[in-house]
Amino acid sequence: MDFNRYAANWDDKGRIERAIALAKLIEEKIPLDARGAALDFGCGTGLIAFELAEAIKTIYCYDSSSEMLKVLSGKITSSGIQNLIVLTEDPAQGAEFDKSFDVIYSSMVFHHVENPAAALRGLIRLLRPGGKFIMLDLNLDDGSFHEAMADFDGRDGFSHAEIREMLSAASLSEIEVETVFHGKRQLQNGWYDYSLFRAVGTAG
Ligand SMILES: C[S@@+](CC[C@H](N)C(=O)[O-])C[C@H]1O[C@@H](n2cnc3c(N)ncnc32)[C@H](O)[C@@H]1O
Repeated sequence: MDFNRYAANWDDKGRIERAIALAKLIEEKIPLDARGAALDFGCGTGLIAFELAEAIKTIYCYDSSSEMLKVLSGKITSSGIQNLIVLTEDPAQGAEFDKSFDVIYSSMVFHHVENPAAALRGLIRLLRPGGKFIMLDLNLDDGSFHEAMADFDGRDGFSHAEIREMLSAASLSEIEVETVFHGKRQLQNGWYDYSLFRAVGTAG
């Protein structure tokens, strides 16, 4: 799916309101001693990063869509916020950030990733020992959530069991997976109720 096409109009009322709620659900799982350096993986236009900017010293923001990052860079410049750093290269592809993040979070991204288990393994390498990984994503659904996106080529969410298995295979411990958010999305034939899980794990 080509997110570049959506970037300019991404920040609508529904997404902004959801990001405010999701940022709180992320923040409550970040211990006070893990608020130095964070990575927002699949940051989009930074809706969540802006919400967390006061709680975390530095947030590195990476997205595979250059247009999303362009919108984010414009917002950073116009807001004057200094502690959001845009990464245009995937930090998991090099060694520069090995073991350097206190926390890595990712919201609504993994169901778009082609090989989520491999992506997760690459990210966990970037966490310092004791660092936290926090994922928010779609509970397994019947395809309705993405019904209106004709070019959607990801997966229809995850079951809690497969997420647990994936985090465990990536050597995370103290794994928690729970449903934390319920939302409504307008479809052609009415409203669709969807829900999101939060998965948390600790790096060894
Ligand atoms: C549904 S949006 C979520 C944006 C943001 N995290 C939020 O919650 O507002 C999904 C984002 O994941 C990005 N994305 C998809 N696959 C990715 C990958 N393999 N690596 C990094 N970002 C990816 C997309 O470009 C898009 O910006």
